[in-house]
Amino acid sequence: MKSLIVYSSKTGNTRKVAEAILSVLPAGTEIYPVENAPDPAAYDFVAVGYWVDRGTANTEMAAYMPKICGKKVGIFFTLGAFPHSPHAQDSFDNGVKLLGENCEVIAKFWCQGAIDPKLTAWMSKLPKEHPHAPNPERLHRWAEAAKHPDAADLEAAKDAFRNLF
Ligand SMILES: Cc1cc2nc3c(=O)[nH]c(=O)nc-3n(C[C@H](O)[C@H](O)[C@H](O)COP(=O)(O)O)c2cc1C
Repeated sequence: MKSLIVYSSKTGNTRKVAEAILSVLPAGTEIYPVENAPDPAAYDFVAVGYWVDRGTANTEMAAYMPKICGKKVGIFFTLGAFPHSPHAQDSFDNGVKLLGENCEVIAKFWCQGAIDPKLTAWMSKLPKEHPHAPNPERLHRWAEAAKHPDAADLEAAKDAFRNLF
């Protein structure tokens, strides 16, 4: 069983989850940022990790995922929204749709990840009527996201990818 992890991470949240998952996959599992990722054809299991951008996998990972065909797959991601929100479920469903043909998703994990302070600073200045303008609910969510991924998230990620085969 040859295993591969490919992840994309702009500010490090998804990389932390990828490294936690690596620690519970079999010895010899390879890990790459998507920029250096190999052709997945040579592997039996491929775990892909993305950060959520506009409700789906970020652009670089969205370009890689269709190359994965006929594999056992694990999907993990981090996002600013709450993990039990419909938006988080959509972000998973949209990731599954990006995979190539005949893949079987055998593991999944997601958690909140701190939002780039440059983005929250920009959104903080938006006019009240803008859909991303700060309001109490949104400020609470950003503050919660800023605490993640935490140690409990990383343990939960390991549990989701342990003993798969
Ligand atoms: C340009 C941009 C777009 C984002 N879009 C979403 C989004 O649609 N939904 C969401 O829940 N989080 C969104 N986020 C938050 C990130 O997905 C989240 O902070 C993630 O943990 C970043 O992961 P990274 O540190 O691995 O880059 C966005 C962040 C950025 C910078």
